[in-house]
Amino acid sequence: MWQELVEAVDDRSSKGIALALSAGIDRGVLRPGERLPPIRRVARDLQVAPATISAAWSQLARAGLIETDGRRGTRVREASVGPRRYRRALDAQAGYRVDLSTGLPDPRLLPDLHAAMQRIPRDETAHSYLEEPVVPALRSLIEKSWPNPVEALTVVDGAMDAHSQFVAAHLRFGDRVAVEQPCFPPLLDLLEMAGAVPLGVGYDDAGPVVADLRAALDAGAKVLFFQPWGQNPSGRSLSAERALELCCVIEGRDVVVVEDDSAGGTPSGPPVSLGTYLPERTVLVRSFSKTHGPDLRLAAVGGPAAVVGPIIERRYLGQGWSSRMVQSILLDLLTDPAARTLVARARTTYAARTAAMADALAARGVAVPGRDGINVWVPVADQGAALVHLAAAGVRAASGDAFWISPPGSDHIRITTSSIDPEASRPEGPLTADLADPADLTGLADLADLIAAATRAGTWAGHR
Ligand SMILES: Cc1ncc(COP(=O)(O)O)c(C=O)c1O
Repeated sequence: MWQELVEAVDDRSSKGIALALSAGIDRGVLRPGERLPPIRRVARDLQVAPATISAAWSQLARAGLIETDGRRGTRVREASVGPRRYRRALDAQAGYRVDLSTGLPDPRLLPDLHAAMQRIPRDETAHSYLEEPVVPALRSLIEKSWPNPVEALTVVDGAMDAHSQFVAAHLRFGDRVAVEQPCFPPLLDLLEMAGAVPLGVGYDDAGPVVADLRAALDAGAKVLFFQPWGQNPSGRSLSAERALELCCVIEGRDVVVVEDDSAGGTPSGPPVSLGTYLPERTVLVRSFSKTHGPDLRLAAVGGPAAVVGPIIERRYLGQGWSSRMVQSILLDLLTDPAARTLVARARTTYAARTAAMADALAARGVAVPGRDGINVWVPVADQGAALVHLAAAGVRAASGDAFWISPPGSDHIRITTSSIDPEASRPEGPLTADLADPADLTGLADLADLIAAATRAGTWAGHR
């Protein structure tokens, strides 16, 4: 059987070997749990250097096809039926009084979809397969709000759908991809599932770190994924100066930039996009989940025809288009004066809530990096201990390690601030372990006390 696999390898590069093995796993020649021979033996069988086999193994491991378990060697992974990164980080559990793990908008600040549905005119084209995939009035509205004139634009079922379509159309097994760090976990899962190799690019106070991007591109990355504003989880945004510096590194290289705007075009400052400078290689994905409701399942994708065109073409062979009825609801919400006021008010409310939590934590000696968006990224001494500390008071946060390609240590948690109303806070004071009324725990000061204590949990100071 091993001989059969060896004979199936005709490209003896690490990528060729990884591809042949992944095909073998697919066909069931190699079964889940089966142990692979030692690297030296495989290298001898294939007459290549052991380093080539190591590289092939790491590609397969990143794609989640094999795993190395210390002295027990390398095995084909059991079929993954369990939750991946994000599901694991957010794994729904009963018994929490306050859930700050979700990354979701405050439902009370979302526009009323039912009212919008009543307002939309009867759609004469509702039963046609032949109409444009994007409702024309919605298209022109979105185009006007784009940071640059856009060659091709479509509407898909949310930002993750956009990423998934992009990956299917443009990435192949073994392709290297530069990814901001920390990063939205489902994107990492998606890339790994596709066999792409994510290369981390740090995100500091001004955006993706230039030297990291240069290193990733030098290592062969052909795509950069990052969030230009309200970065989930860190709350940071791209500055205009950094945008120019990044463009200098990217210019002249064959690289596509995918900007993930999950805040729906609503940064607290002026939006900065690489598309302004490099429109021929920048795709912007704008989700309407946070601003208008996750259940609308709509995002716009716009960019060069060479990148967005294949996504549109491929979609004709699948879903075809995103429901025009739902698109009409979005169009209504983007034009109805009352809905616009509500969405604008939600934006300032989120900014105030995130700033209030960041300030409250700073006052307790905990500095969080950014203040855009609906999350704060809280440094902790020990993630596990911090989560347990919060859980003991009935509060849930998202574990930080899911946001890294390979966790640098369990040193952050993410707190979603969208629903923490500073007005509802009790007078400042220490949180007692046995809260008389669990509802009290929604107060900002209580929560900040608790989170600040959680940051120290697991250290000597935390036990005092
Ligand atoms: C950075 C980022 N990208 C993508 C998504 C997914 O958005 P959608 O609901 O449009 O699929 C989210 C959702 O939280 C996000 O934070």
